[in-house]
Amino acid sequence: KKGNYDHFMQKEIHEQPHSLTTTMRGRLKDNSVVLGGLKDHLKTIRHSRRIIFIGCGTSYNAALAARPFLEELSGIPVTMELASDLLDRQGPIYREDTAVFVSQSGETADTLLALEYALGNGALCVGVTNTVGSTLARRTHCGVHINAGCEIGVASTKAYTSQIVVMAMMALAIGADKISTQPRREAIINGLSDLPKNVAEVLKLDGEMRDLAKSLIDTQSLLVFGRGYNYATALEGALKVKEVALMHSEGMLAGEMKHGPLALVDETLPIIVIATHDACFSKQQSVIQQLHARKGRLIVMCSEGDATSVCPMGSCRVIEVPQVADCLQPVINIIPMQLLAYHLTVLRGYDVDQPRNLAKSVTTE
Ligand code: F6R
Repeated sequence: KKGNYDHFMQKEIHEQPHSLTTTMRGRLKDNSVVLGGLKDHLKTIRHSRRIIFIGCGTSYNAALAARPFLEELSGIPVTMELASDLLDRQGPIYREDTAVFVSQSGETADTLLALEYALGNGALCVGVTNTVGSTLARRTHCGVHINAGCEIGVASTKAYTSQIVVMAMMALAIGADKISTQPRREAIINGLSDLPKNVAEVLKLDGEMRDLAKSLIDTQSLLVFGRGYNYATALEGALKVKEVALMHSEGMLAGEMKHGPLALVDETLPIIVIATHDACFSKQQSVIQQLHARKGRLIVMCSEGDATSVCPMGSCRVIEVPQVADCLQPVINIIPMQLLAYHLTVLRGYDVDQPRNLAKSVTTE
């Protein structure tokens, strides 16, 4: 049922204050995190030599968003694997590894094949899924359900933000034995409690994103630059635009800009730069200056109140979003991108909920 909405994707985007609340329900308790499905395995995870995130598409991007804070709070190296690439390479996986499989449906063929491969190599296998009773939930040793509610739109939206929040809670649980990071953990837990309210706030950008979509309706291509916590936001934002609006779009690591992508910059190609306030902020400011010097068509996403410092020349379009704990900022920042992809699709006259050639659950390799 779509209720008052025109499309499931639209409904699922606007549902996020609620879906995130259900994801966290009963799991945050006075400055600590309780994840029933993980608690008996936390010791093994803490002793693992490496944590490997494995997934496809949006689920991979959610894991990429979680990587920096999982590394920070656990002190364990975290590596990333696209399921199909791990299988193609038959990459090394060891008994001392913890492999975390992320999948909304829990039925994606590549992810399930990678799971069998990791089980065969003796790794501890953890599942993060939205689907109770799915193959992923049944075949992993332990795991966490994201409880985002059924997602019908082919383009994943609310599952993405709930996956990030679950992995933030996992990172907090794994790192809970470290005294030195306790103030940091408490700040993140407070940030999690406030997140639904901040998500409701950023959803008010809907009209602004529709206007932005109108200005981009006929462009051939859209680049999205992010780094640090928001490298994943760049990849996921671009994936949303390409899969539903059927417009070429690429997410790029801003740190790689000078190593090739800079050659593409001219007055016509729109470029979204994610420059919300975190440790990488000054580096993103200099990226904006360099793009500006080459007359790039800039759209900058920044924290509320930062508009004049990110765009002193006043020549770029600015999207201001609420500022939250740095590691939770990807949950906020993806929402304007979801709204933009949605409006671009509607304005261009394409099918929002059933994009051309795509299926909700990819059950073949
Ligand atoms: C993008 C999208 C796909 C899926 C991917 C993995 O919006 O929906 O990229 O994320 O096919 O699916 P799950 O998470 O079900 O394993």
